Amino acid sequence: MLERHALLEKHSLLLSLAIVVVVSIGGIVELAPLFYLDNTIEEVEGVRPYSPLELAGRNIYIREGCYVCHSQMVRPMRDEVERYGHYSLAAESMYDHPFQWGSKRTGPDLARVGGKYSDEWHRDHMRDPRSVVPESVMPPYAFLETTALDYARIEEDLIANRRVGVPYTDEMIAGAKADLEAQLDPYGDLATRYPKAQTRDFDGNPAMISELDALIAYLQVLGTMVDFSVYEASAPENLR
Ligand code: HEC
Repeated sequence: MLERHALLEKHSLLLSLAIVVVVSIGGIVELAPLFYLDNTIEEVEGVRPYSPLELAGRNIYIREGCYVCHSQMVRPMRDEVERYGHYSLAAESMYDHPFQWGSKRTGPDLARVGGKYSDEWHRDHMRDPRSVVPESVMPPYAFLETTALDYARIEEDLIANRRVGVPYTDEMIAGAKADLEAQLDPYGDLATRYPKAQTRDFDGNPAMISELDALIAYLQVLGTMVDFSVYEASAPENLR
């Protein structure tokens, strides 16, 4: 056996080939099952597709490059869980195309920012971050409040998301514009299509549907879909 091994050790080409064979076995073991599984994400109760207004806000988040400074992924490590809350579940970003996990944190993680602050706080913060956090290095986004939200093609956004697997129904697509407007009405009814969607005028100016309305609606839903008081994790106790 050892003698035969000497053959490998003396011929670099043979050795390289043997390495490729051995390494690909590991790769195949990891990859092959994925071709047979329909879904590798465990579904979790409460996670629903974004409402049209939240989706529009998400588009602004991407357009403005918020992901350059903010991640949306609480890692299962004690310091993160203590600072931000329950670590992120795969299911929580299953309807994010593209996902917003990010790779850099100049600012804090935003995966659980929903409900952390009031709408007014967000409005002040977007207008001028230093008015609420004096040492902030975040740039102001005051124009969002004065820019009307362009949602003329919101249906197409839902359709595009459906193509990549988000379960928007025909009814949701047909009603996208009306649902977007309804979410800004404190008495709007979205609950049948988007359970627990928050309805109110997010930017405090009912006279106009602004980009800030959409962005705040998006920020306020982040990390709130799963009810962690009833969610049973399979992780170690100290991380829950
Ligand atoms: C240049 C980097 C940078 C960019 C770009 C940026 N931020 Fe920030 N953000 C920060 C920093 C730093 C903080 C922490 C200080 C503060 O609260 O202002 C922060 C804080 C925040 C907070 C408060 C988070 C918390 O838990 O306290 C929110 C919400 C937020 N940013 C949203 C956004 C959104 C939305 C955008 C895009 C429109 C954005 N940020 C773009 C750097 C950035």
